[in-house]
Amino acid sequence: MNNLLRCLTLAGCLAFPFGQAAAQHAPLIANIGARHTTSLDGQWQAIVDPYDVGALDYRAQPLKNNQAFYKNHKPQSESELVEYDFDTSGQLHVPGDWNTQRESLLFYEGSVWYKRSFDYTRSPKNRLFLHFGACNYLAAVYLNGEPLGEHEGGFTPFDFEITDRVREYGNFLVLRINNTRGREQVPTVNTDWWNYGGITRPVTLVEVPETFIQDYFVQLEKGTTRQITGWLQLNGPSPQQKVTIRIPEVGLSKTFQTDSGGRAEFSFSADLTLWSPENPRLYSVEIAGETEQVMERIGFRSIEVRKTDILLNGKPVFLRGISLHEESPVLAGRAWTDDDARTLLTWAKELGCNFVRLAHYPHNESMLRMADYMGLMVWAEVPVYWTIQWENPQTLHNAENQLNEMIARDHNRAALIIYSVANETPISDARNRFLRQLIQDAHSTDPTRLVSAALQSNEVVERNRITVRIKDPIAGDLDVLGNNEYVGWYSRRPEEADSMDWISEYDKPLIMSEFGGDALFGYHGDMLTRWTEEYQENLYEHQIAMLKRIPFLSGMAPWILKDFRSPRRTLPRFEGYFNRKGLVSDHGEKKTAFFLLQKFYRELQNAQPPK
Ligand code: GCU
Repeated sequence: MNNLLRCLTLAGCLAFPFGQAAAQHAPLIANIGARHTTSLDGQWQAIVDPYDVGALDYRAQPLKNNQAFYKNHKPQSESELVEYDFDTSGQLHVPGDWNTQRESLLFYEGSVWYKRSFDYTRSPKNRLFLHFGACNYLAAVYLNGEPLGEHEGGFTPFDFEITDRVREYGNFLVLRINNTRGREQVPTVNTDWWNYGGITRPVTLVEVPETFIQDYFVQLEKGTTRQITGWLQLNGPSPQQKVTIRIPEVGLSKTFQTDSGGRAEFSFSADLTLWSPENPRLYSVEIAGETEQVMERIGFRSIEVRKTDILLNGKPVFLRGISLHEESPVLAGRAWTDDDARTLLTWAKELGCNFVRLAHYPHNESMLRMADYMGLMVWAEVPVYWTIQWENPQTLHNAENQLNEMIARDHNRAALIIYSVANETPISDARNRFLRQLIQDAHSTDPTRLVSAALQSNEVVERNRITVRIKDPIAGDLDVLGNNEYVGWYSRRPEEADSMDWISEYDKPLIMSEFGGDALFGYHGDMLTRWTEEYQENLYEHQIAMLKRIPFLSGMAPWILKDFRSPRRTLPRFEGYFNRKGLVSDHGEKKTAFFLLQKFYRELQNAQPPK
């Protein structure tokens, strides 16, 4: 059904007279938290629509009359037939996935229509935008019975300008959210995480002046610790303005002039305390144009590579990491609050981490800002996962769009050091071309950060030694190599890691981006018995010993911080639709391997990095 709706959408038959999703929504407004905002979060009316009767008639032709749910039509007489009614169809909380809000929706994949009514008095001359933190997967948005546009991709923000569409009273906002999986999508049909559907992050009205500060980038120039470089983009009828960047805490104030396109590029030196996990120093940075001023808390740090070292502020650093999914620490649904982020990152800090791999898609903005604040370096990733349709230009466009939206939202986060363009993707010419395009996009859009991908490697056995060679055609294009391995779980016994040697023909740093094994919290036995905490702990013991012997290793992000929901994990008793590779259970209980890794990270913290 989703492909039919997509074809009808793209062919302009359905009530979205637009082409590709990306072209439809307004340019992303940066840092909406610093603007004049009104939250639309809360209980929304919702209609679960597995057969898309809200969009298509029984001949699967697009509905354009009052039967279309986005019309939110009410019978005008006792004899008028209207077969839907938002106001008596139950509610769902926004933000939130629908799967964990109703038992009946746990496995649901399809369409759900949401409706929210609101009044709004806009100040004359101001503009109004509707901002979504994220909706999974395909969102079609309507206001007052008219289409606004749509967005594809479940993990990045988008917004629409509604200045001329909103009325003072009785606005009704309707969304059709569809999370049906499709081969051509990003991610594609097969993932080891739950396909949570819904309006999963906050919905916000953002009021700005006629000409406003749409976006800006204020970071240290690559390879320097004293030179700030960046740009600022105005949006509106008065593009040419005097703009000032102030950092009051160090008495810094620099003024520039935007050009006829509303853009100013700048570079200036500044003597600042550098951001690091040990000292996550953030500065209040004021960006002021003639019509608007925006304040942002920004940290300044340099990140680069030198041969097999990763340098933070010019010094080699070892990334003591952990991987995590964006699942609430207690509810096993999509996480989105500051509290969710604080709890998850506090567990990472307790582990002794200075680094987190946010897998396999852009996590919510609270997570990135919390990492900035708590001092955790971040690996962020787009969901180019497993077997994507590499030959499909629309799939590439979609992946590029998700990458750009991720970068646009988080490019002022000091914590964010690595963009990952892929996870465990099978090598082919088409795949290489696809990923090279994303690597190039990331480097050109933001030259200050590192680009990586989670690769997989092959092993060779000679004279009782196992040699694993890091080898991938795209490795040469990456700044940092990531590698996933499951020695002791999917392949071999844990102790075989003792006779493994890793070699790389690239003079680049390696991050072991995944390793681990499953354990059911509280299930104990000998270390040969799978699913026991003892088996997992033993696996970690041998892994840590092996990793210590890899000369070009600059970091690690074991799989994974917390047990998480997965449709691929059907084994009763031990899995029950959860991947149990967490060091913490889905109820927040720490497994014995948690303390083993903690001990190792504490040793690293106290000693010089192994390099
Ligand atoms: C893969 C994959 C993860 C998955 C993990 C596992 O490497 O990247 O998404 O959850 O292995 O099998 O547990």
